[in-house]
Amino acid sequence: MTMAGIDVLVSEVGPRDGLQNTKQFMPTEYKKRWVSAAAAAGLREIEVCSFVPPKLIPQMVDAEEVVRHALTIPGLNVAVLAPNLKGAERAMQAGAHKITLPISVSKSHSLANVRKSPEEAIADARRICGLRDTLPAAKRPSIEAGLSTVFGCTLEGPVSEDEVVRLAVACVEAGCDEVGLADTTGYANPAQIRRVHRKVKAAIGDRLGGLHLHNTRGMGLANVVAGLEEGVRTFDASLGGLGGCPFAPGASGNIVTEDLVFMLESMGLRTGIDLDRLLAVRKVVHEGIPEEPLYGYVAEAGMTKGFVPATQA
Ligand code: COA
Ligand code: ZN
Repeated sequence: MTMAGIDVLVSEVGPRDGLQNTKQFMPTEYKKRWVSAAAAAGLREIEVCSFVPPKLIPQMVDAEEVVRHALTIPGLNVAVLAPNLKGAERAMQAGAHKITLPISVSKSHSLANVRKSPEEAIADARRICGLRDTLPAAKRPSIEAGLSTVFGCTLEGPVSEDEVVRLAVACVEAGCDEVGLADTTGYANPAQIRRVHRKVKAAIGDRLGGLHLHNTRGMGLANVVAGLEEGVRTFDASLGGLGGCPFAPGASGNIVTEDLVFMLESMGLRTGIDLDRLLAVRKVVHEGIPEEPLYGYVAEAGMTKGFVPATQA
């Protein structure tokens, strides 16, 4: 993903991580409006859906149509999630630019989420990367291994850091372009973020990608700062803090995109995102799923007086 003119890439995952967890179905028209409005606010990468069996997650029944729409937006990196080979085939067929494969470090979460062990999930990743390599170069999506439950698991408790490193290396060997670290369950603390990031970085170098954080215990933005200090420049976040894994009991929403952008811009880090326009996207999302609560400190308290975003300074 190009970083021209920005210091930090904020990757919006609300239409995927958020909607996979809401009870209410968001009509397809609203999904499209959300993606368009977020891109117009300056978001350069949006995970717009997941290619899962609609029987399992009915919210994602319109994945192809949402991708088709997102691809009409100039300059937008259209990201999707695919849990298996069939999902990745659908994603490639649809023309997604980036495919994230969820690979859980915790065996129990892996079995609950994708009905495969981590080893089997990596074997699947290898097949998926092989399929990507058969496409003409211009049509090849980038493939990210989204290592999940890296910082702890609601089913197993602590997760071995050596196992995180081992699986990160295996993902690179399977052909993944990058490996992102996900705190699926909101267990991470800043010291742990630093330690695990360093260990994985030492093993896979610049194949280490972004951080995917949940704010379940209020440590989300502290963890972002820890990541920034380690050199992380891509963070996932979700509008209104929607999100959570339906197969990790007790996991709640992602870090809030609006609050993340406010913090980064206040720190002098350019995101390329217009905060006023981003806050206005909440209205679209609220109208699309009126029964779901939207979170966010900045939306609640308003911008600070005299705030000058780094993007406009
Ligand atoms: N998209 C559409 N249909 C799919 C599919 C996909 N990605 N993957 C499998 N299917 C279909 C199969 O064709 C089969 O259909 P049939 O019953 O008509 O023959 C059926 O679903 C079962 O296929 P199977 O390969 O046995 O899958 P499974 O039931 O073992 O489920 C996963 C495996 C990975 C598809 C499922 O566990 C999953 O989607 N997990 C992800 C959950 C998730 O999104 N978690 C949150 C994000 S991390
Ligand atoms: Zn998540």
